[in-house]
Amino acid sequence: APIVHVLGARPNFVKAAPVIRALEAAGAEQAVVHTGQHYDARMSEVFFDELGLPEPDVNLGVGSGSHAAQTAALMTGLEEEFTSRSPAVVIVYGDVNSTIAAALVAAKLHIPVAHVEAGLRSFDMTMPEEVNRRLTDQLSDVCLVTSPEGIGHLANEGVPVERAHLVGNPMIDTLLANLDSFDTGRVRAEHGLPDRYVLATMHRPANVDAPDTAADLVRRLHGIADLADLVIPVHPRGRANLMAAGLDDHDGVHVLEPLGYTDFIGAVRGAAAVITDSGGLQEETTILGVPCLTVRPNTERPITITHGTNRLVTFEELVPQVRKVLEATADEDAAARYENARRPPLWDGAAGPRIAEVIMEFIGD
Ligand code: UD1
Repeated sequence: APIVHVLGARPNFVKAAPVIRALEAAGAEQAVVHTGQHYDARMSEVFFDELGLPEPDVNLGVGSGSHAAQTAALMTGLEEEFTSRSPAVVIVYGDVNSTIAAALVAAKLHIPVAHVEAGLRSFDMTMPEEVNRRLTDQLSDVCLVTSPEGIGHLANEGVPVERAHLVGNPMIDTLLANLDSFDTGRVRAEHGLPDRYVLATMHRPANVDAPDTAADLVRRLHGIADLADLVIPVHPRGRANLMAAGLDDHDGVHVLEPLGYTDFIGAVRGAAAVITDSGGLQEETTILGVPCLTVRPNTERPITITHGTNRLVTFEELVPQVRKVLEATADEDAAARYENARRPPLWDGAAGPRIAEVIMEFIGD
């Protein structure tokens, strides 16, 4: 029986690549089910190509919709796949709707579930991701945890200790494996970027879904562009609201299409600072040593604050905090930042092999 990976959204692809590779090396039989939650070439195909992911065995083409509609379509498609493939275990990643849908379907079919990136908690149930994480962990037979506090969160929720395994962070495996391909100079030349810039990414519903909030955010981003050039690759979610609020209608603002993985991290590596509401980027900036301001009231990744470069900021704090960072880092160079960065435990590039070992033992091979 195969190990079935369920992948749906952009961050899933980055996390799965090292796990699939390590299981391949262990001689496992595997299948990849792409749910089609992300379907734009720039959100999906580009990542499969660049990360050397195997062509999905099937793409369910689920696409977008309300949470209920999307989750229902995911579940219906996945039920059929799991029934016909009889997986030994289903591996799910992160906290997106594809993750909870796959976990729920597998549990009902009595198929074991392994969750990569288990145990993260923002304790903010207004975030769809927090709902997805909590429920996925409850349904998982194997919880693969990225940072130590996750083990405690799972224990507090009654997850038996023997299910939880601290394995480190596979997203960082991908980052470290591709380090040589992140060429800031090439990205600058290709996208016409200046030497010194702040890079922003914004896609959380709480920041971009309401037109008023998006407009307020755009005013702050313009304030940042008055301090340094602002480069912003726009996620399809929120694009309309941010553009309607005149995002690119200001000197020094460079609006880009979503970038592929190596171009994106190349741009991050050379940024004076990063402004984001993404989860993964808080981790990637920590490893690269790039100052990160996260525009959220909380984070499920506090280790990026205690060990890394991350700081939470409100809309009001954005411009003054960026000013401070720019002043403090005026003479820094990117290579030195990377050398001096502090690393959380087990964010060492070998999470994939550790995950593969746990999975192989679990399925009894
Ligand atoms: C999802 C995840 C989020 C993750 C993000 C990474 C959930 C609940 N959220 O959010 O945790 O940080 O992925 O990108 O699963 N769209 C496109 N093309 C695409 C994909 C989306 O145009 O390929 C547009 C559609 O208008 C869609 C909207 O983006 O309605 C939102 O997409 P959706 O998959 O619902 O969630 P994300 O916002 O991408």
